[in-house]
Amino acid sequence: MVTLPRSKENCMPSIKADQVGSVSWQSPSNIALIKYWGKHGNQLPNNPSISFTLSKSFSETTITYSPRTAFDRPISLDFYFEGKQNKPFSDRVRQYLTKLLPSFSYLSGIHLEISSSNSFPHSAGIASSASAFSALAMALCDIDILVGDSASASQIDIRKASEMARLGSGSACRSVYPKMALWGLTDQIEQSTDLASIPMGDQIHEVFKDYRDAILIASQDQKSVSSSIGHSLMQDHPFAETRYREARSNLNQILVALKSGDIEKMGFITEMEAMQLHALMLCSKPNYILLQPNTLQIIREIKNYRKESKVPVHFTLDAGPNVHILYPSSFRTEVRNLIEERLLIYCQDAKWIDDQVGDGPSKKNNGDKGGLLKYSPRAD
Ligand code: DP6
Repeated sequence: MVTLPRSKENCMPSIKADQVGSVSWQSPSNIALIKYWGKHGNQLPNNPSISFTLSKSFSETTITYSPRTAFDRPISLDFYFEGKQNKPFSDRVRQYLTKLLPSFSYLSGIHLEISSSNSFPHSAGIASSASAFSALAMALCDIDILVGDSASASQIDIRKASEMARLGSGSACRSVYPKMALWGLTDQIEQSTDLASIPMGDQIHEVFKDYRDAILIASQDQKSVSSSIGHSLMQDHPFAETRYREARSNLNQILVALKSGDIEKMGFITEMEAMQLHALMLCSKPNYILLQPNTLQIIREIKNYRKESKVPVHFTLDAGPNVHILYPSSFRTEVRNLIEERLLIYCQDAKWIDDQVGDGPSKKNNGDKGGLLKYSPRAD
């Protein structure tokens, strides 16, 4: 066995040259009920947010690692998205990994080949950064146990994974826990912090534990303004302070509704949050619109249907035109009929994703050199 030395000139950690391995992780997207919109410092949120962890909308990331042979850049990386090299994604991942060097010293000693793919088409306009960065963070924490500084640990530190995911994309830090996660300091919840999300699955009523999310693809077009620009426009936003106050108040109220199983209240607050998010965009400087005519038609139909049928369907929106219909699993047939009869005409290429609340990230067992499943979904 050859061990690369740790020296002053070559301040790499010891990586054993025969340590070649591969880990694969699957991690879901999430949908926020209280929205994270506006940030400061090193990816810190301006208000706390809470989300359902999804299930069928996920990314799968495989990292194959080996001792590096080229030392011309801080990170030695080959990146593939959906099987092909992808320069913009590769640059973002390289930048991210460079940022993580102080947390994962092994990164300076290995070559990484990263392959990532999504369960949903990239063009579907589903936010993929949450699933992509949470899957990547889980895989990086796993490798830290196999060849890095956490070698004595028996399982992944999920809190660290959440913190690492946050540095890639804020909302990604909420994808690491089953059912629900809360990110951001609030005096309502002990342990809450701006640095990572915390699990909320055991603080919600049974009805929400298998809640469903039908994602209607109103448009697959590339967004005209990215989320990172949207966040930055909150800096000089005339309603910024009011928004952060509202988000806190909405969070306090929704926590009560989530605990007691008050679907109407949860839905009312969730819809208000979605509308506020887009209202902020409408009056940013400069202003912009991510809603499409189809988005508004779908929202109108959902409201009419709820009034007529009394079926508790509520909508929310991400920073994009697609509509998430949230509803209890007992109304699956009704909602499927609603979509097929009244909403598919407003979906691009009649596309929608039949998603639901899920169990968080999972390790795939292909080529796992360590062999042990080191992930436990519980936060210890
Ligand atoms: C509207 O997490 O995509 O979906 O931290 O810049 O990567 P970055 O932003 P991102 O913002 C998501 C915003 C949102 C609301 C939410 O998920 O809370």
